[in-house]
Amino acid sequence: MELHILEHRLRVASIAKEKRVLGMGCKFFSLTETPEDYTIIVDEEGFLELPSSEHLSVADATWLALNVVSGGGGFSSSQPIGVTKIAKSVIAPLADQNISVFMLSTYQTDFILVRERDLPFVMHTLAAEFTILRVVNGETVAADDFGITNGFVKPKLVQRPVIHPLSSPSNMFCVTSLDPDTLPTVATLLMDVMFYSNGVKDSVVGNEDSGHIRFFSFSLIEGYISLVMDVQTQQRFPNNLLFTSASGELWKMVRIGGQPLGFDECGIVAQISEPLAAADIPAYYISTFKFDHALVPEENINGVVNALQVSQAEKH
Ligand code: ARG
Repeated sequence: MELHILEHRLRVASIAKEKRVLGMGCKFFSLTETPEDYTIIVDEEGFLELPSSEHLSVADATWLALNVVSGGGGFSSSQPIGVTKIAKSVIAPLADQNISVFMLSTYQTDFILVRERDLPFVMHTLAAEFTILRVVNGETVAADDFGITNGFVKPKLVQRPVIHPLSSPSNMFCVTSLDPDTLPTVATLLMDVMFYSNGVKDSVVGNEDSGHIRFFSFSLIEGYISLVMDVQTQQRFPNNLLFTSASGELWKMVRIGGQPLGFDECGIVAQISEPLAAADIPAYYISTFKFDHALVPEENINGVVNALQVSQAEKH
C-alpha cells in the first residue's frame, strides 16, 4: 500500500461563533461546526484569505495531510471504512512513537494530519508498512526515509486506556457527498445551515431533546465535497442531491474530551480507533480545535460506548 504525503501545508484554526467567515479559494478546505466554535483547516492560500481577527485562534504548527492509497487500482469495496482501516497500520504506530495527529475523515477518504516538523519521524515510523510518496507540484514522487527517529522508545505493548471523558449526543448523522457542479444550487442553503441555523435547531428538535448538539462538517478537498450532518439537516437538502454510500447507513457520535484536548497529546485517536478496528466496526473520525469526534454505525453505539467506558474504568 502507498502512503501519500500531500503537498498542502495546512493550518488549523478556530473561529469564535459570533464571527462568520468562509474562504474557499483554496484546494484544501474544511469547516466543522461544533457547539464550541468553527474549526477550519485550510492550506496556505486559504489561510491568507482568513481575516486576522481576535476571534480567530490558530494552532501553532503547520500540518501536512497523509492519505493512505490502497494499491491495485482504486477503491476496493471489501475494505473496512474510515479510521478502522488505518488504525493498526498508521494511527497506532504514530501513537507508539509519541507523534501527535489530527484526523479528518471525509466521505471519500481519511486524512491524517501530522505536524510538518514531525515528518521525518512519521516517515521513518511508517516506512516499513508503506511505500511513501510525496506530492510535489501536483506530481507524486518517491519520498526518502532518512532514518531519522525522535528517539522515543516504544513502551511495552499494553492496552491503551481511554483517557478523556466521552459523551454521545442523540443526533443521527449521515456522511454524504455532493457533485461540485451542484454546489451553486445549494450554496445559499449551505451557508444557512452552517452559519445561520441556530433558530432552526430549536424549532426542529425542540428543548425536549437536550442530548442534541450542533455538528456539521463540510469539506472541499481537491475537488471532492464531503458533508457530515444530522438527519434533521439532511432533510433540508433537495432530494437526490446528496449521495450517501449504498447502505445509506446512519451514524452516531462519540465525543471525546472534557477539557479542550490541545494539539500536543498523542494517542487519543489510537485509544478510540484501535478497539473499533479490533471489533471490525467502521468509523469516521473528525478532530476539531477543542475535541475529537468518532462516528460509528448507529447499531453499534451502545456497544462501543460501553467498551470504551470499560477501557476508561481500567486506567490507573
Ligand atoms: N493529537 C491527538 C492524537 O494524537 C488527536 C487530536 C486531539 N486534539 C484536538 N484538538 N482535537 O491522538
